[in-house]
Amino acid sequence: MRSQYCGLVDEKLLGEEVTLCGWVNKRRDHGGVIFVDLRDREGLAQVVFDPDIPDMFTAAERIRNEYVLQVTGIVRHRPEGTINENLPSGKIEVLAKSLVVLNESETPPFQLDDDDVHDENRLQYRYIDLRRPFMQQKLQMRAKVTAAMRRILDGEGFLDIETPMLTKATPEGARDYLVPSRTHHGKFFALPQSPQLFKQLLMMSGFDRYYQIVRCFRDEDLRADRQPEFTQLDVETSFMDEAGIMGMMEKMIRQLFKETLDVDLADPFPHMTYAEAMRRFGSDKPDLRIDLELVDIDDLLKDVEFKVFSGPAKDEQGRVAALRLPGGGSLSRKEIDDYTEFVGRYRAKGLAYIKVNELANGVNGLQSPILKFIPDDIAMKIMQRVEAADGDVVFFGADKANVVNESMGALRVKLGTDNGLVKEGWAPLWVVDFPMFEWDAREGGRWNALHHPFTAPTVNDISELAKDPGNALSRAYDMVLNGTELGGGSVRIHSPEMQQQVFELLGIGEEEAQSKFGFLLDALKYGCPPHGGIALGLDRLIMLMSGSDSLRDVIAFPKTQTAACLLTDAPAEVSSKQQRELNIKVRKLQTEESS
Ligand code: AMO
Ligand code: AMP
Repeated sequence: MRSQYCGLVDEKLLGEEVTLCGWVNKRRDHGGVIFVDLRDREGLAQVVFDPDIPDMFTAAERIRNEYVLQVTGIVRHRPEGTINENLPSGKIEVLAKSLVVLNESETPPFQLDDDDVHDENRLQYRYIDLRRPFMQQKLQMRAKVTAAMRRILDGEGFLDIETPMLTKATPEGARDYLVPSRTHHGKFFALPQSPQLFKQLLMMSGFDRYYQIVRCFRDEDLRADRQPEFTQLDVETSFMDEAGIMGMMEKMIRQLFKETLDVDLADPFPHMTYAEAMRRFGSDKPDLRIDLELVDIDDLLKDVEFKVFSGPAKDEQGRVAALRLPGGGSLSRKEIDDYTEFVGRYRAKGLAYIKVNELANGVNGLQSPILKFIPDDIAMKIMQRVEAADGDVVFFGADKANVVNESMGALRVKLGTDNGLVKEGWAPLWVVDFPMFEWDAREGGRWNALHHPFTAPTVNDISELAKDPGNALSRAYDMVLNGTELGGGSVRIHSPEMQQQVFELLGIGEEEAQSKFGFLLDALKYGCPPHGGIALGLDRLIMLMSGSDSLRDVIAFPKTQTAACLLTDAPAEVSSKQQRELNIKVRKLQTEESS
């Protein structure tokens, strides 16, 4: 029906006849001439309707925004002064010879060039939202990146193998989405949180290099960088160690950035241990574009009378950290209160600070409500350690280490963003040497796997692992880009005994292990190769590459904050007939506590 895309008509076609199909982006009437910007996925073309052909002109007078047209005409230069250098088709226009209105449109619920449309409207009328050029570009970029991924992995000998969607729970730390079985009364499938166990089984089956661009489902609290269904580039290899896997993955990412954005990422990506990341940045996904750093000052504060500081300084699990903001001395009382409120969201009980007015005056040059609780020499030692300068402010967090890390780590990013301290560019890194386990103090306490229970420890000796699980490190690695966790993976356990031991440490008894993961424990007995892999969050990668703030902008039909689809109105109730077939009955709504 068309000879080319609207957005691609350029000067090469001058004098030629073209046929275009697209949507009316805008109609302008100018003294007897009608201009229509016709839009398709590649961009706009300006079409001119002259009154010389009366029937066509009358039809053109009736068209409105979002009508679908087919126009045939001759490509000619735009008159001087109407040239748009920003568009490929900006130097030409098409003088219409014929017009077919392929379809009319009611007035759309919002204008496509309105930047301020409510999210709910965008999602409810997603098919219109997606017509907008910036959405078209993001999804086109996504398609190009996945095509390139497939090409690159194909070149490295990876096989694309599909794994089941109706399956059994895989522990990735979120709630499962469950699907009731009609044929097995009272039983449920779980939608996969990841293909973790299947990809390991594929290694045991000898496929050696597997990948899949695969949907994963996690019923968890949603944020800008989390959707209930999302896509992973899932990878698993045999006979390859962590260096090999990380090397191959970063090479792929470098190639994707070069091809798509003409950006040269660091080669190699820097590595940082988990311990260093937590110490310097309070986060296992540090944004290295921001130069601010946490500085430990526990040793200086053990004996001060200020309990807020001395308590955590003396506590094994406590931490007192300082964070200097250069030039922050000019922050107002209100701004500091707002930051105090901000760290409160991460359970911090307060946000002490010292403003540095004039260091040459010693403590008299400092200004803070907490100075009266801290000996002068200690205050000055702190200033020295954080390398304070006149005009700075130094913030303090004191609490259990995890609270300080979370709150001060988040404050670091917020201060960086608010004060224009986020450097341009791309800061990838690998975070390595994660602890195997983290202690969960609730309900008497237990160990949780920091990655997942199939991750290998750095020690091969089973008894050594059991002796001191708190200090055991794993062979896991995370790929981080600009403060976002892009992906994570590990070398896996390939011995049944070690797997059994890890389950035991996690409080998964033999019986439970058999019932949940018996198939894996069995498979490990029949010649399992050493193996490992990784999964990259595809949506997150595209979000970063396309400069978006939210995953929603890179997923065609995303869910809302409450995991619903406003377009189709899912989830929805099902008929009593369907419920009967499934032998399921919906109970009256109860809160979690009362049920
Ligand atoms: P993990 O749980 O770290 O590892 O997930 C891998 C990557 O998937 C992305 N991701 C998400 N993206 C959007 N919305 C979500 N709700 C969401 N959850 C995770 C992140 C994350 O880094 N099986 C292991 C991988 C392995 O060991 O090979 C796994 O799933 O970018
Ligand atoms: P208070 O003695 O509670 O009035 O606190 C004095 C100062 O210390 C205030 O600026 C508080 O915001 C700050 N503060 C209180 N608790 C903490 C904490 N756990 N970490 C850092 N600063 C705190």
